[in-house]
Amino acid sequence: MTTHPQSTDLDSPAAALTDQRIVVLDFGSQYAQLIARRVREQNVYCQIVRHDITAERIKELAPQGVILSGGPSSVYEEGAPQIDTAIFDLGIPILGICYGMQVACQALGGSVDNTPSREFGRAQCEFVDRDSIFKGMDSSEQVWMSHGDQVSQIADQFTVMAKTATCPYAAIRHVSRPVFGMQFHPEVTHTPNGGQILGNFVREVCGCDGTWKLDDFANAAIETIRAQVGNKRVICGLSGGVDSSVVAALLYKAIGPQLSCILVDNGLLRKNEQQLVINEFSSHFKTDLRVVNAENQFLADLAGIDEPQEKRRRIGHAFIECFKAEAEKIEDAHFLAQGTLYPDVIESGADKDGPAATIKLHHNVGGLPEELGFELIEPLRDLFKDEVRRLGLELGLPEQLVWRHPFPGPGLAVRCLGEVTRDKLVVLREADAIVVDEIEKAGLYRDTSQAFAVLLPVQSVGVMGDARTYDNAVAVRCVNTDDFMTADWSHLPYDLLAQISTRIINEVKGVNRVCYDISSKPPATIEWE
Ligand code: XMP
Repeated sequence: MTTHPQSTDLDSPAAALTDQRIVVLDFGSQYAQLIARRVREQNVYCQIVRHDITAERIKELAPQGVILSGGPSSVYEEGAPQIDTAIFDLGIPILGICYGMQVACQALGGSVDNTPSREFGRAQCEFVDRDSIFKGMDSSEQVWMSHGDQVSQIADQFTVMAKTATCPYAAIRHVSRPVFGMQFHPEVTHTPNGGQILGNFVREVCGCDGTWKLDDFANAAIETIRAQVGNKRVICGLSGGVDSSVVAALLYKAIGPQLSCILVDNGLLRKNEQQLVINEFSSHFKTDLRVVNAENQFLADLAGIDEPQEKRRRIGHAFIECFKAEAEKIEDAHFLAQGTLYPDVIESGADKDGPAATIKLHHNVGGLPEELGFELIEPLRDLFKDEVRRLGLELGLPEQLVWRHPFPGPGLAVRCLGEVTRDKLVVLREADAIVVDEIEKAGLYRDTSQAFAVLLPVQSVGVMGDARTYDNAVAVRCVNTDDFMTADWSHLPYDLLAQISTRIINEVKGVNRVCYDISSKPPATIEWE
């Protein structure tokens, strides 16, 4: 049975670095994780917990402050998420954001009427009380509103701190308790001084000294890994991506040669990828690396299959088989290390205090099942992606690796539309390498989140020299996104697009047409399958 280490908790390596923390009660907001990231940017440890956590448990966690997130419900709706109102009696500072503000108003005896007064987008906010959480704010600043309801009346115990033309209670505070509420979202970048507001809350109101630093995380994690592993062996799957590389780097620092890494080459990797991973690995680690060349098995499993989810299923299955077969050859292996991140922990509902599982929009392919028989080590389970990248740099991994665009577990198979064949993969790999190469040369790789080629199951007529051609079409996909849940297509310069197109058509045999994908997500997705 795979056992999970204690979930994000009082004594996780991240939390152990400080005795100060902020907890965010998640009322179902799409921004709950963003709030936590923004608080951590203030060097204060922050963790997300479920909205119905008890006051008792909050007391045990002993946070310096509590933030109530927004949420999609109306407080008066039947079944709307509620709070254990005893939390307001703990004396811990509380900041309610949007829905969280309404919950706080309601809980503290205010007669809050929620009138439908929708407001989505930028608003100019007048700060009438520029003390405490609004210290340093100008009298009028831009904020981001996103709400269907708003507080229409506040109780005597509250006073107004800020208002907009349509929102008389844009921010309020309790007269005698350290309880604040704001209708707007300080956590999003469209509230330019939102960081200052959250900083004021955690430092001025909650008294956090801001000493939680990622720099110390590596050492704490290494100590934890050493204590957990002892002299046993750990297996780690490498994919060439940043998460598994950072896990390997941490483990290598902790236990050196007790680490064995496995790279499954499924034949669906990008151009030269296997070699790249091997080179990077051997220049950083002097320990066991096993490369499983499984291209034939994967392609045989994919033969004749053109339905995207079936392709994913077969790839996932073949991956587990290959990984397992290799892992079984490592006799004394006891632990399996995985690059699970904090958003995975939160979204899968795996955290003891965390919110219930949400419907995961991401595709869970490339993971390993529970029954492999190893004990799990997940040293990144308290971290967000941007923190993992910083940790990677801290551990000495090269920038190029740390800033690599994410690559899906099923690899080029979801970019080779229809049946996947060896010949099609050759074409796709070459086209893809040109896209990335040109974007890098233009200095735009870091400004884009994902950039790749897609081989379409379409042939069209062209003319090359004097001859008529009937060849493949390639789509170029390049997106900008923070969270991969929503994305905009990258507005790349025309000259760059022209260069990509010219090079693909000239250099990749079998392609006579290149299109640029200008759909955003939603309604499109990032990948084509
Ligand atoms: P979509 O296409 O859903 O992609 O907009 C969102 C992000 O997820 C990645 N992706 C996958 N990752 N297995 C993965 O590990 C998959 O099957 C898969 N499908 C999409 C995609 O590359 C993007 O970053």
